[in-house]
Amino acid sequence: MGEYEGKNVVITGGSSGVGLATAKLFAGGGARVLISGRTRATLDSAHEQLGESAVTVLGDVASLSDVDALAGRAKAEFGLVDALFVNAGVTRSVSFEAMSEQVYDELFAINAKGAYFTVQKFLPLLRDGSGVVLTTSVANVKGMPTVSAYAASKAALRSMTRSLARELLPRRIRVNAISPGPIDTGILERSMPRDAAEQTRAQMTANNPMLRFGDSGEVAKAVAFLAFHATYTTGAEFPVDGGASQL
Ligand SMILES: NC(=O)c1ccc[n+]([C@@H]2O[C@H](COP(=O)([O-])OP(=O)(O)OC[C@H]3O[C@@H](n4cnc5c(N)ncnc54)[C@H](OP(=O)(O)O)[C@@H]3O)[C@@H](O)[C@H]2O)c1
Repeated sequence: MGEYEGKNVVITGGSSGVGLATAKLFAGGGARVLISGRTRATLDSAHEQLGESAVTVLGDVASLSDVDALAGRAKAEFGLVDALFVNAGVTRSVSFEAMSEQVYDELFAINAKGAYFTVQKFLPLLRDGSGVVLTTSVANVKGMPTVSAYAASKAALRSMTRSLARELLPRRIRVNAISPGPIDTGILERSMPRDAAEQTRAQMTANNPMLRFGDSGEVAKAVAFLAFHATYTTGAEFPVDGGASQL
């Protein structure tokens, strides 16, 4: 019997990268997994990799009606949820000087507002004693160039982790954050022109204490730990960053 047999797991942004690796870990352990994302083709490809029992839901976490629909589908499929991984997020590389209101609002709408209301809409479905994990970023504790708005949106999420952890204590729901450093998911290549992505990748590799990018699977293991095994931990942020935030 798998380690997560009988468990129901919901992952926003579960169609690629860290979210998909985490979905694979849980599905491999016998959990029922529901993933969301905005792109049908990516969700279909993830579905193929996860197997028939996985549920995919198209939706944008920045839209509260989409988040409502996501929770409604989770209720119909699972009834109650044992672990909620609030992982959907985007990054944009723009200097402070060039930052526009539109990009700022997009980052906060997805990374901060989307995450906040995802937890709120799932509250009635979260089993007492369940685990919520939010994805922040090493950027929220480091002064990094060209990601000021992204970093601030993730810092908001780090703060929410503490507040929600406190408010959900009476139901024994633990709320923690996973804070990735540079993880090899192609997120750089999707968020900036190829030359800039290559340059940033080389720079980030050289600057990392372990001199490498992390793998999505390394983050997935930490998410599983926080969601199910860290039973005396809440309000915490766990770095998976090659030491970048600590050394
Ligand atoms: N990779 C890194 O180096 C790194 C470092 C620190 C933190 N993070 C954080 O880790 C998380 C996962 O990143 P990743 O590297 O795995 O990136 P990724 O491969 O691009 O995955 C992002 C996932 O979120 C979904 N998504 C994005 N915007 C969404 C929205 N508005 N509504 C619903 N789903 C949405 C994406 O699907 P669609 O685009 O199809 O919607 C995809 O499934 C993000 O929160 C990111 O900020 C990543």
